[in-house]
Amino acid sequence: FMKRRKTWIRYPPGPFSIPFLGNMLQVDFQQPHVSFTQLSKKFGNVFSLQFCWRNVVVLNGFKVMKEALVDKSEDIADRPPFPQYDNLGVKKNCEGLVIARYGRGWKEQRRFSLSTLRNFGLGKKSLEERIIEEAGFLCSVFESKGGQPFDAHFNTHSAVSNVICSMVFGDRFEYDDKRFLRFLHLFEEDMKAESGLIVQFLTVFPSLKYIPGVGKKMFECHAELIKLLKELIDEHKVSLDPAQQRDFIDAYLEEIEKVKRDPETSFTETNLILTTLDLFSAGTETTATTLRWALLFMILYPDIQSKVHEEIDQVIGRGRRPVLGDQMNMPFTNAVIHEIQRCGNIIPIALPHMAYRDTEIQGFFIPKGTTVITNLSSVLKDETYWEKPHQFYPEHFLDAEGKFVKREAFMPFSAGRRVCLGEHLARMELFIFFTTLMQCFTFRIPENQPRPREDAYFSLTLSPHPYQICAKLR
Ligand code: HEM
Repeated sequence: FMKRRKTWIRYPPGPFSIPFLGNMLQVDFQQPHVSFTQLSKKFGNVFSLQFCWRNVVVLNGFKVMKEALVDKSEDIADRPPFPQYDNLGVKKNCEGLVIARYGRGWKEQRRFSLSTLRNFGLGKKSLEERIIEEAGFLCSVFESKGGQPFDAHFNTHSAVSNVICSMVFGDRFEYDDKRFLRFLHLFEEDMKAESGLIVQFLTVFPSLKYIPGVGKKMFECHAELIKLLKELIDEHKVSLDPAQQRDFIDAYLEEIEKVKRDPETSFTETNLILTTLDLFSAGTETTATTLRWALLFMILYPDIQSKVHEEIDQVIGRGRRPVLGDQMNMPFTNAVIHEIQRCGNIIPIALPHMAYRDTEIQGFFIPKGTTVITNLSSVLKDETYWEKPHQFYPEHFLDAEGKFVKREAFMPFSAGRRVCLGEHLARMELFIFFTTLMQCFTFRIPENQPRPREDAYFSLTLSPHPYQICAKLR
């Protein structure tokens, strides 16, 4: 490797690496975005690292990210291998969505998922209606707390997860349903197990999984999740009615039937499980964590909360529930939601990309097969772009007349070929959940409790530290 690296002219600079481990010990995997931002101060916005024998290039700052993700989107559209997921049944052309290599399998799954999500609800309850309904259930739970202090983590998580359940399984679950609770618990345990150094090592040394105990928790969660999903898919098969497509699973089972004579197809039952797992893992924690940031910022900044209340009262009033169409008449609330996402910065380094072909970024040579890390955090907090990058300042998204303005460096969903597949759904959920909660309640820090922390902790996503709120009916 060192020999090859020497022959590459214009390869990005980087810190000195030690034999075998490379730079693994120079990155704090509990807050990788912080390590990367520090390294970029020394080595520039495009720098290289070595994770054992993997060549890694880290991209930082808005200008670089725009060139890479937007202008050269396909060049870095691949994903590196994730051998720690082989036990899920991942193989060529059957890799779900999130970790799929850039090729036919990924294209088919992405196109199918996007169009199924888009058409979802035609003639039935639309996705928007389902979110409005779920927001209503969430408000009832908050109301049942009777203004006493509580931690909203579990309830927001259940509500957001139920939106995906409704799409994938055709129905929501009661918040105390045993299977639903098990499902949520397994995802949470898996997230904990997957963050940290051990999984990084498993990525580069897959054989470590044969050492008893290594990755045990993660593998156990995977096995049980697959079992639960298989059960639900089998139940669907029994009641499948081609005349009435109920949900994502029905649509997928019908697609499998349609293309079954194509030996190269990526539509198989294993891939249905992988894609469903992806919709849950990518679509639940992300939106739920953003909502927790939203509530936190509202109790930390009561003046901003009051302005959101004012706008809701003016535009929607109290007599009806918020709908998506209200968004364009609510520039302040819209700016607040954008600022929550910018400051929350929940997926600070996105997911790793891989160079699909030899390419150049900012004049640096990046050979095919190099792992490319997009430090989105460095864009959302880019000091050369934002007026107050480290402060909660909704005015970032407002002009002098108070109109909403789009900002190019607002990239929490990444950009380009691998941009978040659920961006549209997530934006819909954030607006409806947030506005409905704010229409119903005033949130505040419980009396005699200290001001909650505004910094984050990293566990695959950047989350707020646990905090309690009081929700007073308006
Ligand atoms: C990928 C952010 C919600 C499904 C991603 C990526 C980011 C992201 C940064 C990585 C993009 C890249 O590799 O460059 C977010 C945020 C969300 C959110 C901030 C909420 C606030 C959702 C939802 C869904 C979803 C609700 C489910 C429908 C996915 C999928 C991918 C993805 C399937 C993989 C796309 C691919 O590799 O082609 N998301 N996401 N996300 N997201 Fe989201």
